[in-house]
Amino acid sequence: MNQSPPATQLDADGRLRHLLTLEGLPRTTICALLDRAEALRAQSRGGTRRLDLLAGRTVINLFFEPSTRTRTSFDLAAQRLGAQVINFDIASSSTVKGETLLDTVHTLEAMHCDAFVVRHKESGTPEFIAQHLHSAAAVLNAGDGNRAHPTQGLLDALTLRRHVKDFSALRIVICGDIRHSRVARSDVHAFSALGVRELRLCAPAELAPDPGEFPQCSIFHDFDAAIASADVAIMLRLQKERMQAAAIPSEAEYFQRYGLSTQRLRNAAPDCLVMHPGPINRGVEIASDVADGPQSLILQQVADGVLVRMAVLAELLERD
Ligand code: NCD
Repeated sequence: MNQSPPATQLDADGRLRHLLTLEGLPRTTICALLDRAEALRAQSRGGTRRLDLLAGRTVINLFFEPSTRTRTSFDLAAQRLGAQVINFDIASSSTVKGETLLDTVHTLEAMHCDAFVVRHKESGTPEFIAQHLHSAAAVLNAGDGNRAHPTQGLLDALTLRRHVKDFSALRIVICGDIRHSRVARSDVHAFSALGVRELRLCAPAELAPDPGEFPQCSIFHDFDAAIASADVAIMLRLQKERMQAAAIPSEAEYFQRYGLSTQRLRNAAPDCLVMHPGPINRGVEIASDVADGPQSLILQQVADGVLVRMAVLAELLERD
């Protein structure tokens, strides 16, 4: 596995220039972003007070795939730092008239902007844009194919850090459609950098990662075995939009084998924390009473997403 971040992500001094992936990012960089998010939580009084760190800056959201949490939270994050935000509407733009991705980006750059927040179904698109910019704008990956979702990895670490002091004692299980999940990949990179004790990935064989992709994780196909004594269970949606053909028998059968029910949660460590990046499919990968139960951090993850995105935007744009 490639341990170094792509060259375009860091400047000559090793500082973040774009945020494309967490893969290979040093623990110090990740911790600095999480500390910044906590500082912004205090400064903005939990997001209720608008700051002006990015006054005069322009952020353009370029979402080529659907999004609720990520898009809204990037929008709010930029606005809460005083930046101007354009939510570029792909469906009513000239991309439907055949304009290429790069022509669209260069057109928007000509109007002056400081950052592009990019979500795209093709892995590598944010990096491709970063390599072809005409300006000094920053590119923030908001999810590319099944490759990376770095701000999700950061926000999951931020949420967890509020509940757990010592990551080196943690057993984390990530269960679901690992194969197609950019969240799983970014979580593995974040949690490995932060030194968790054990990372377990659990999926049906059809949705498991390629052998050897995650040498730092143990791979399970039996969720009852994978969840035993886990301190954290991160559940993932079946990303059918990325599956070639129906890779699972039925949703009911999937829930039987891989769903997180109250009963199954009892096999985990007491007070096991439950997380999910959303959107959740109730009764498929997680039971409603677990998603809404006392061990669930799902809505706290959403709240922390705004703070992490504020931290990344501030880090990348708050320079001359
Ligand atoms: C995820 C995504 O888009 O990768 N959602 C998110 O950003 N919170 C996970 C998913 O779509 O299942």
